[in-house]
Amino acid sequence: MLPFTRPTIDEATIAAVGEVLRSGWITSGPQVKAFEAELSDYFGQRPVRVFNSGTCTMEIALRIAGIGAGDEVITTPLSWVATANVILETGARPVFADIDLATRNIDLEKVERAVTKATRAVLPVDLSGLPVDRTRLYQLAASHHLRVVEDAAQSFGSLWQGRLIGSIGDLVSISFHANKNITSIEGGCLVMNDDAEARLAEQYRLQGVVRSGRDGMDVDLVGGKYNLTDVAACVGRAQLKQFRAFRERRLALARMYFEAFAAYRQRLYGLGLPVADFENTNWHMFQVVLNEAQLRAPRAEIMAAMEARGIMTGVHYPAIHLFTLYRRLGWKEGDFPNAEYVGRNTLTLPLFPGMKDDDVGRVVEALVATLAEFAR
Ligand SMILES: Cc1ncc(COP(=O)(O)O)c(C=O)c1O
Repeated sequence: MLPFTRPTIDEATIAAVGEVLRSGWITSGPQVKAFEAELSDYFGQRPVRVFNSGTCTMEIALRIAGIGAGDEVITTPLSWVATANVILETGARPVFADIDLATRNIDLEKVERAVTKATRAVLPVDLSGLPVDRTRLYQLAASHHLRVVEDAAQSFGSLWQGRLIGSIGDLVSISFHANKNITSIEGGCLVMNDDAEARLAEQYRLQGVVRSGRDGMDVDLVGGKYNLTDVAACVGRAQLKQFRAFRERRLALARMYFEAFAAYRQRLYGLGLPVADFENTNWHMFQVVLNEAQLRAPRAEIMAAMEARGIMTGVHYPAIHLFTLYRRLGWKEGDFPNAEYVGRNTLTLPLFPGMKDDDVGRVVEALVATLAEFAR
């Protein structure tokens, strides 16, 4: 069975974890400090702090930006639900703007139209690693005096006009969850603008605590328990060393997918392929969109048929506004038709550095056979 993703953990990483476990310091300590310094180098010396998820990084970014009750934050309805949940956590109101069908990212024209007097920030997502247009995004933010919290959970290593995502922009949140392009098992980092923001991030990360001198301690805001362990940071550091090789392998596999699909052009029943971008995206995922009008079975049956052929597929993601929690807050079917369509029909195909070249052909052949089986 071919999974849709699998982390690549080498023996050197396992040995390094053993050393940390034997060192006597296993929670946040020297590994966390070193990981932060290496990430800061990677992001052009911007301040970086690491946390135990890419969810709390976004919530903390919103808090650093001063977002709270009465504020509106514009975001996409097609993302992992964390993206909208963190807005609710701060007491602010998420305002969804529908996606563009080609990129599957938030449509910036619709963002512009969603701005009101209460809008304080935009929270865009680089779905599957394909970056939202940063030039237009920051023009829009500047013209309406908005903060930007980039949910770059999936776009570590992606570029915008030759510059790394995270090395530019306002507050940039990245996830190191096990499925991401580099992992610390669970974890994330926040790239910030200055030391004052980094100090606030440290407070929000650990109970609002500020230390001074040898024994001084004060608390002047409500923080949480979001620190990363040294064991996790050690895994993250080992992954960072291998990142270039991971990136190249993902790009090569994505190219193979396009070549394999091109050979079956006449037999795809309207299947939507991702944007063929080899300049900007890190190819976090290879996602296709089924054409429901040309198939006589819903996605779940297509997934089951793929599994029967030895291929696991994933769903990233159902539209957020149709979850019960969000329906209770007033959203309904028909509000964001593009996100709803993609949410119903998107399918994540296997893509991870450990995949073999042959696996790509196997996946595409299985999908072509499955589409033929369920074609109208
Ligand atoms: C787009 C997006 N946003 C946010 C997150 C949250 O990251 P984490 O799982 O590390 O909390 C994820 C990852 O799962 C994600 O894919």
